Amino acid sequence: MEILKDMEPEKKEIKNDTLAETNGATRNAELAKAIMERHFRPSLITTEAWEGYSFAGLEIRIKESTDLYGAMLWPSAIVLCHFLDSHRETYNLMDKNIIELGAGTGLVTIVTSLLGAQVTSTDMPEILGNLQYNVNRNTRGRCRHPPHVTELTWGKDLEKHFPRASCHFDYIMAADVVYAHPFLNELMETFDHLCQDDTVILWAMRFRLDLENSFVGRFQKLFDIEELYDLPSLQIKLYRATRRIPWSPRVRDTT
Ligand SMILES: C[S@@+](CC[C@H](N)C(=O)[O-])C[C@H]1O[C@@H](n2cnc3c(N)ncnc32)[C@H](O)[C@@H]1O
Repeated sequence: MEILKDMEPEKKEIKNDTLAETNGATRNAELAKAIMERHFRPSLITTEAWEGYSFAGLEIRIKESTDLYGAMLWPSAIVLCHFLDSHRETYNLMDKNIIELGAGTGLVTIVTSLLGAQVTSTDMPEILGNLQYNVNRNTRGRCRHPPHVTELTWGKDLEKHFPRASCHFDYIMAADVVYAHPFLNELMETFDHLCQDDTVILWAMRFRLDLENSFVGRFQKLFDIEELYDLPSLQIKLYRATRRIPWSPRVRDTT
């Protein structure tokens, strides 16, 4: 701060802003580094290819496949898991009812199950085989509630398979589900269908194109959102969202 002492006030303000930005950028870079250190590769060449992750004090092995988007693990999933693992007190998942959308290779499902939640892990039919494999391999004998893997194709038969009257989720988890695919309306419909007044959505979002920004704008018409992480070096933001409760005038007590 010594350098700032003799400066004109306006210049000092600009300098302070620049310093604050630098500190913020350093903090973000450190956080991004800590998040990515959760990932490791096997030290020996094994017969089966897997990638390793450390969460909930355990080693998690994920099998990927490069021919399908959903069979790869995307950095947004690591960001969401890091947040959950390092905020266990604020977000205590013990016995909570969770649904994950677009679960892919299953890391978020596995970590939330290891943290004690009852998880419904969903994706499109062609993804479920590898998802089930990873979920079994990493949760068997390690979880309070075995996770349930099932199809949920966005916007399809929602009321039939997830009736609003009987399906109540404490959390909806979603990692990297918004990108250039033609099902964004169906995805919005799915969030809307599954999210009750007291459901919390935790959604990690990788920004690639303007399309993602416009989805966030539309999402905000239905949900209030709070930014939990902003990681420019990874182009990822983590949001917490809850349903927007329509404003209702207070009933006046006229007695
Ligand atoms: C980019 S991947 C992210 C996978 C995982 N969440 C992660 O972060 O590693 C997008 C996921 O959304 C799923 N998905 C895409 N379109 C879908 C749809 N119409 N209905 C259900 N899931 C869909 C894909 O199968 C894939 O698993």
